[in-house]
Amino acid sequence: MAETPRRIWLTGASSGLGAALAEALLHSGAHLALSARTEAPLAQLALRFPGQVLVVAGDLTDRQQVQAMGAAIEQHWGGVDTVILNAGTCEYVDTRHFDAELFERVIRTNLFATGYCIEAALPLLRQGVRPHLVGVASSVTYLPLPRSEAYGASKAGQRYLFESLRLDLAHEHIDVTVVSPGFIDTPLTRKNDFPMPMLVSARQAAAYIAARLERRPLEIAFPTLFIGALRLLAWLPAWLRVWIGKRLVRQATTQGDA
Ligand SMILES: NC(=O)c1ccc[n+]([C@@H]2O[C@H](COP(=O)([O-])OP(=O)(O)OC[C@H]3O[C@@H](n4cnc5c(N)ncnc54)[C@H](OP(=O)(O)O)[C@@H]3O)[C@@H](O)[C@H]2O)c1
Repeated sequence: MAETPRRIWLTGASSGLGAALAEALLHSGAHLALSARTEAPLAQLALRFPGQVLVVAGDLTDRQQVQAMGAAIEQHWGGVDTVILNAGTCEYVDTRHFDAELFERVIRTNLFATGYCIEAALPLLRQGVRPHLVGVASSVTYLPLPRSEAYGASKAGQRYLFESLRLDLAHEHIDVTVVSPGFIDTPLTRKNDFPMPMLVSARQAAAYIAARLERRPLEIAFPTLFIGALRLLAWLPAWLRVWIGKRLVRQATTQGDA
């Protein structure tokens, strides 16, 4: 007998990693509820994969809209088996003119919206089969990087949130996986004006994640060499890490952008 397709709610599916992940999961036969503010790419996927896609578009920083997405998913499916919270944004801080509004924007999108999604997702996951919550954080949290005050803080917050949730949800058998990517070539990183070592394509990143979801590890971190290097750096004494970080700032300043 054919296996029942997994029902997955994926956020941030309109571009970059989320769009590539949507493709990979749809090709594997999963059914997807897709969220993002830009509806056209989601509708395109619905056309290309008839019967597999539920479009639940909207702004994830608006708690009421997220609750409406959850209600729509419940109405169509009754529950979800996997939730992948991937939507996110990145803006870099210029400490010469620290902009608290920028800080708020990034934290709102990456952290508050994650809270709204978790609020909507948990009742759905409780109705799911072998429920699995996946949060896309970042390898940026292994090591503080210059200009990443807002993004890094939001991602560190996300990591703590998911790791803490993992403990509290264990007795309900809801597994939690944290995804920690290095640099991926997406619209988000195309704005970066600095070298991005070991950059991978969104397709490669999506294939890497999709291949590991079934095993539901605690963490999916890649590319391996990049993560290994970051972990080594994180082991260095604090003064040496600061020294390296300052050199990165100086490099950026000589390039005229910090
Ligand atoms: N690219 C990298 O190198 C990298 C590395 C580590 C971690 N990550 C993480 O990977 C995730 C995906 O990033 P990406 O690189 O694929 O970026 P991206 O191409 O800019 O995609 C971001 C996605 O999030 C959605 N989104 C943003 N704000 C939203 C909001 N308020 N409401 C609903 N949807 C929203 C966007 O859709 P709309 O704009 O249509 O709403 C888009 O689909 C992010 O969490 C990012 O932090 C990326």
